[in-house]
Amino acid sequence: MKFAQCLKGVILASGVMFAGAAMAEGDAAIGEKIYQRALGSGCGKCHDSASNPNLFESVKKLSRDEFKTVMEKGRAGMPPILAAGVMNLPFVKSANLTEDQAVDALIAYLKKGK
Ligand code: HEC
Repeated sequence: MKFAQCLKGVILASGVMFAGAAMAEGDAAIGEKIYQRALGSGCGKCHDSASNPNLFESVKKLSRDEFKTVMEKGRAGMPPILAAGVMNLPFVKSANLTEDQAVDALIAYLKKGK
């Protein structure tokens, strides 16, 4: 019994550590969901069209801060999407992500590629 409890503790602790590590690098699975669902139809609604920048390419050119600023403030046909279209997604809220963690998750997904 004691051993089982101890084992449980170790498993729990490593689970928390693993979650922490995944979060620090940006969680690509959450990033994919954000890409698909932001503002209802996702970033792809506009960005999967050839006339707009392909975000899988943009992520290689823009710094993380440049990327975040466009999401925050918008630019030309790009709406300010961070607060209004990303942070209010139910799974972003329930995961308690900060804006930076949401941006990092998205970038992790885009860097990984489709
Ligand atoms: C309603 C259409 C629309 C949606 C939805 C949209 N974008 Fe955009 N986005 C644009 C357009 C158009 C541009 C190009 C703006 C310009 O020409 O300056 C752009 C530009 C960008 C850029 C700059 C790209 C570059 O290479 O300079 C980033 C970063 C970006 N969008 C991120 C996102 C993310 C992340 C999402 C989803 C969370 C998203 N966008 C959703 C229309 C959209």
